[in-house]
Amino acid sequence: MMSRIWIVRVWVWLTLTVNALSADRIVYPQAAVGPISGQEFVIELKLGNRSPNFPWTGTVRLLEKTTLAGMAAIQVSGPLGPVDALEGEWPVTLSPDGTVSYTVASPDQLQTGVLVVEAAAGSRAAGVVASFFYRLTNPERGKVQDLIAVQPAREAGLSFETLISRSRDFNVGLAMVAEAAVDGAGASVPETEVTLTMTLDGGETLEALISLGGAAPEATAQRAVFPHEVFESLPETFEAARLRIAAAEPIFVTLLGVGTPPLFEDVQIGATPAEVAGSRSLRLREGWEFVPGAEELLAENFWECAGPRIDERPGGLVSRAGPGYETRVNLAGTSLELTGDFGLSALLHAGTGQGYLVAVGSLADGPQWWSNLRRLDLGLEGGRLVVAAYDNSPNPVVRSYFDSGTLQGATAVELARVGSTFEVYADGTLGGSFPDFALTDGGRLWVGTNIAPGSSLTLFGIAAERRQDSPESVASVPPAPREEVAVRNPSLRTEAGRHNLSVGAAAAAGPFFSERIYREILGGVFNQLVAENVMKWSTIHPERDRYSFCSADALVEFAEANGMTVRGHTLVWHQQNPQWLEEVVYSREGLIQILRDHIFEVAGRYRGRIAEWDVLNEAFEWDGTLRQTVWLDGIGEEYIDLVFRWAHEADPEARLFYNDYGTEEINAKSTAVLEYVRGMLERGVPIHGVGFQGHVGIDSWTRPSVDSLLANLQRFRALGLDVALTEVDVRIPLIDGQPSPGQLETQAQVFQEMLEACLEAECSSFVTWGFTDRHSWIPGFTPGYGAALLFDEDYNPKPAYQTLLEMLQGD
Ligand code: XIL
Repeated sequence: MMSRIWIVRVWVWLTLTVNALSADRIVYPQAAVGPISGQEFVIELKLGNRSPNFPWTGTVRLLEKTTLAGMAAIQVSGPLGPVDALEGEWPVTLSPDGTVSYTVASPDQLQTGVLVVEAAAGSRAAGVVASFFYRLTNPERGKVQDLIAVQPAREAGLSFETLISRSRDFNVGLAMVAEAAVDGAGASVPETEVTLTMTLDGGETLEALISLGGAAPEATAQRAVFPHEVFESLPETFEAARLRIAAAEPIFVTLLGVGTPPLFEDVQIGATPAEVAGSRSLRLREGWEFVPGAEELLAENFWECAGPRIDERPGGLVSRAGPGYETRVNLAGTSLELTGDFGLSALLHAGTGQGYLVAVGSLADGPQWWSNLRRLDLGLEGGRLVVAAYDNSPNPVVRSYFDSGTLQGATAVELARVGSTFEVYADGTLGGSFPDFALTDGGRLWVGTNIAPGSSLTLFGIAAERRQDSPESVASVPPAPREEVAVRNPSLRTEAGRHNLSVGAAAAAGPFFSERIYREILGGVFNQLVAENVMKWSTIHPERDRYSFCSADALVEFAEANGMTVRGHTLVWHQQNPQWLEEVVYSREGLIQILRDHIFEVAGRYRGRIAEWDVLNEAFEWDGTLRQTVWLDGIGEEYIDLVFRWAHEADPEARLFYNDYGTEEINAKSTAVLEYVRGMLERGVPIHGVGFQGHVGIDSWTRPSVDSLLANLQRFRALGLDVALTEVDVRIPLIDGQPSPGQLETQAQVFQEMLEACLEAECSSFVTWGFTDRHSWIPGFTPGYGAALLFDEDYNPKPAYQTLLEMLQGD
């Protein structure tokens, strides 16, 4: 081990961009250095103004000039020419799109110093970037050394493990800065032994024993700092190594790799989730505390419900994107209720990719829902820390960078709202601030992730914080309960029983998880539940070898807790299939295998718990021919019989349905379905019912003829089959976005006619596709139409609801 110390501790918060904000005084991230001796030390500082419109004025300052005064010489050079460093303050003006750079060099000795860039009062800080870079020369080795990786200091406790990886062969050493807490400057530290054990992937083990203690080479009133070069040169044969650090007393550890530039990006120091689990702790700033119930928002917090490609691993959560951006909001997990200041902290790692922790203040529906959120993304882009704020818009209203050059390993980020300002911290250092943009006006905050195409983000911890002096300002809202809600009396469900009818509604996972009133009406008014989307392939089977039952489980559990039966929707369809299924052409045998596996897996999971399964959805065209789908094309007509046989085997008690739209009346399509199903029955295929979706409207051309509807249902009944209206909604053409009283009356009549026919034909169920106009697929899929359901956007029952209720109350 070396006796001389060639270590520099540097906290570099390198780049900050603030768009479209003006501030009186912005302090840019700063570089702190020290101590160095016997070698040349250089800081390069670059300033760039990315704004095409505004000049920028400010100053660069060297703080702690007194300690700098001890240096033999310090040179500062740049476009302004040599400056007397001891003045330590250089004014700078940046023209639009302009850049300047400085070099601060000390050939000999530097105690400590802090470089700070400050915007002048009143200057407009549009897109100004400050970046620091430093290198030092080690005269003994005669070559330039670079800081190649930094593991941010973390509370190590008595031991912790981390991983080190190297992607190219080159000479690399490892250094460590250990910090011990002291009480007051000059206080000495008790002798502490630190053992470092490094196990290389080839099995080789390196050991080092370091003794800390006594008077520290560098000390503040709080901390004694002991720099050490641990392994001067690591063997050239390893790609990954596991480093275990064990100390007799609690210490803070900063790990540095040392090597030859420009290879510093090839070494990474960082811990895997499981390894961090034992030692990780999110640190609180002074005066703040964790919110009870939200001290840990990762573990067992229903993240899988948030979407595909989220892996919950011990100690961490890995969120990956496919070919597009993936924004996921964890509506199923713990959220926050806010009335005042709050903080959200996370420990994250994105490697060379781009991933963000997302704080969401208002939810939105629709196909492009992620661009309609009011949200704040805090994350990493190739090691650069970035914050982006979205105000119900696809483009951010604020986008700021904090560029550290190479942020390696896990980074602790924190977002705090203090008054009307957001502050962002990285590893405990304030990186920037910007005004609140009504993020939490709704009083609620959800947490999620956003991942760039091809990237992944590892989260080691997320926690919510509040100020100790105002604990009432943040509370945690526990995950959506699966518990019982009160049955409303009278309601459709209390009156339907005597007609031997189930009254159902499709439930959307988003509002189900996030709105209590949604659950209260769903369980209070209906006695059957259908998953509007989450049992479809794209949700429940997102990857070839992976199923995701989180949301479907929640709906089924809720139904069971509330005495509701479940319609399963749907095992086979040509829409909402996952990309992995659509992008590959499988052989017939391969496709049969995939389909069979899916049905056994999904129907098998809910065996005995599903009353009716829509086994096959929409397999016919208007003209009565079979629809060309991935299944018909790849397997042939035989697939239809097969899927019913498999479903029956997987769940023998479920009533198995064929389900379609446009088949409500007697027409070419419904006749073709009738004949096809008759054939299936003759072949002994286990089919028990036919579902008629019932997406209709109040216009004459979308309103079904009662006679034809009834006659149609009855001809299916005559085959001995169950019939059901499975997705009823009655859309209204909207003028000014609102239905007129007359339209609502007509709508009530249409609902009435459909229920009448259903009762007359002894339907097994009458299901509406959603129940509130607040959450309905109609406006998104049939622009100009809406208000198609039984409750309005504010969850008040509409005339149609009253009409159906009164009908069921009669005989
Ligand atoms: C719809 C959902 O309501 C939408 O949220 C989704 O985006 C698309 O699918 N026929 C069906 C249902 O069988 O599964 C469809 O549901 C509506 C048409």
